[in-house]
Amino acid sequence: MNELIEKILIEPKEIQERVKELGRKISEDYQGKEVLLVCILKGAFVFLADLIRSLDIPVRVDFIACSSYGSSTESSGVVRILKDLDYPVERKHILLIEDIVDTGLTLNYILSILKERRPLSLKVCALLDKPERRIVPVNVDYLGFKIPNEFVVGYGLDFNGHYRNLPFIAVLKKEVYSQK
Ligand code: IMP
Repeated sequence: MNELIEKILIEPKEIQERVKELGRKISEDYQGKEVLLVCILKGAFVFLADLIRSLDIPVRVDFIACSSYGSSTESSGVVRILKDLDYPVERKHILLIEDIVDTGLTLNYILSILKERRPLSLKVCALLDKPERRIVPVNVDYLGFKIPNEFVVGYGLDFNGHYRNLPFIAVLKKEVYSQK
């Protein structure tokens, strides 16, 4: 698999350190409260798995799935809920866990539907942000890393369903992205 990698943007050690810092900050901010972590599938599952183990506050976890890019690296702009939450969010502190904020369309859509369900609070924690690509403004309360405008894989992020298992964040060689 290494021969398909153009460059590594973020090494495993850097990711682990940043996730621990985020965990400490979130634990401080939510001291004395219980939080429902809402993981946006599928890309955020690896980030969530590491993040919950660096939290020392009571948490519960739920999952929501939206339509994503399919086999392309460009957003269709259309967001659909494929799997809704199991728990109600009313009167709960909700922290959305996202892998990457790109155009902002996915997060904006999920935030708008969850707001209608009257949570006590609603915040966002994202591992990566590509601010250059933003179409709709979204506020990210806890951010791992800002990255340049490149399609990345690894640590849960995929291209065409592959590469989620890479322990780092990387850009693949151009020929991989041009094959469908
Ligand atoms: P947005 O709606 O354009 O902000 O896109 C958010 C979703 O697109 C993320 O949750 C990812 O699933 C996917 N995505 C955006 N950029 C990348 C990338 O560079 N690599 C892999 N997936 C991406």
